[in-house]
Amino acid sequence: KLEEAKAIVLEEPTTEATRIKIRQATEQRGKRVRVFGWVHRLRQQGGMTFVILRDGSGYLQCVLSGRLSQTYDALTLTLESTIQITGVINQLPEGKTAPENHELTADWFAVVGKAPGGDDAFLNQVNEDADPSQLADARHLVIRGENASAILKVRAALLQSFRQSYANLGLLEVTPPCMVQTQVEGGATLFAFDYYGEQAYLTQSSQLYLETCLPSLGDVFCVQESFRAEKSHTRRHLSEYTHVEAELAFLTFNDLLDHIEELICQTIDRVLADPKIKELIDFLWAGKGKFEPPSRPFMRMDYRDAIKWLNDHNITRPDDNGVEGPHVVGDDIAEAAERKMTDTIGRPIFLINFPKDIKSFYMSRVPGDEEYTESVDLLMPNVGEIVGGSMRISDLDELLAAYKREGIDPEPYYWFTDQRKYGTSPHGGYGLGLERLLAWLLNRYTVRECSLYPRCIPMTTS
Ligand code: 4AD
Repeated sequence: KLEEAKAIVLEEPTTEATRIKIRQATEQRGKRVRVFGWVHRLRQQGGMTFVILRDGSGYLQCVLSGRLSQTYDALTLTLESTIQITGVINQLPEGKTAPENHELTADWFAVVGKAPGGDDAFLNQVNEDADPSQLADARHLVIRGENASAILKVRAALLQSFRQSYANLGLLEVTPPCMVQTQVEGGATLFAFDYYGEQAYLTQSSQLYLETCLPSLGDVFCVQESFRAEKSHTRRHLSEYTHVEAELAFLTFNDLLDHIEELICQTIDRVLADPKIKELIDFLWAGKGKFEPPSRPFMRMDYRDAIKWLNDHNITRPDDNGVEGPHVVGDDIAEAAERKMTDTIGRPIFLINFPKDIKSFYMSRVPGDEEYTESVDLLMPNVGEIVGGSMRISDLDELLAAYKREGIDPEPYYWFTDQRKYGTSPHGGYGLGLERLLAWLLNRYTVRECSLYPRCIPMTTS
């Protein structure tokens, strides 16, 4: 049969065909069009070939019938081959289903690049039952799947929406460097490298640079990769993640919390208002409920009330000897306990006023309660912390004392210190982990699913 098929050579009809992307298919119904794409699904039935074509902008069912379906190329077509196809798109009759409720009746097609069949076939490379490390190695193929590409499309919409919200709120975008010589969030998670013979690091946070922009540009934000040498493999830690950070001047701690709440709600509402994106979000939640936009105002909970809440609910933590016991004031609340609390309360929580000893050197103290800081973690059900922020020390002497206390050499921070010298101001800011926000929005088990090419510490095989 294949030998006979080789003899069938079909010329393309000469009628004009408009080249379109699949997203334009609905407006081009009834006209002859030309579409390029990848064979996403393939079914041969009753002498006809049904192809779901994918071009990144959408999916289009194409039907090859008659002699077209008997050609060698049609009979040997494989998943993920690229083709160009021409024909007319028509609405489907009642009772038939296909993406966007229409299909292209092909009058001609040609293979652009044929993908292998047999052992080397695409589906053998991205077996969903494979273990996670194999799937990570095949990430470049996994992203062609409906789940992964839907996540990446929502991610793009979310980034766009963040930028729109920042424009509405009057913050200007800047692009700080990734190669730095200062730490922000402690030495333990720094990635070091050699910079022309000097030690340098990949940035953990652009915060200090954003602070320097306040006197020049006013309130600012950035969307930048941050790097953390995390020592353990968890659901919510990456070695490289997309960090949405902002810094605002002349505001109070309460203003800062209000701003974070407004930013998140405005950004999420805009994403949900786009029907195409809403459809993707619903698809990713299918069978597991539905995304509920957060109700406002977000709950505000003092750190000490959280410790009490954990103890009242018998959520324990291991002490230095590994013996489970109650939480005590001064503890850094562990991921598991934080998650249990957030999932039980079931709504966003601004956890505020952490003890100074478990927080970063730059955080300002609560006036009149100097052991505690004007700091905040925003906790979301299902993922836990998605935002970390604070008011910053605005007094020069206090900052110098903070360097000393933390054993930080002030020398490489001279430019940061200058901010306190040349016209200081009360100010505050925060960082939001984009992948964590996505894990919450899209009900993903791990942040790794929300990154294009996730980088994280390899899992030990012991
Ligand atoms: O709480 P963090 O460490 O705060 C800072 O870096 C501040 N300097 C930010 C600022 O005020 N400008 O990190 C902020 C957020 C966390 O809430 C979390 O969402 C995310 O960054 N994050 C990570 N996301 C993925 N993988 C990791 N290893 C992360 N570490 C932090």
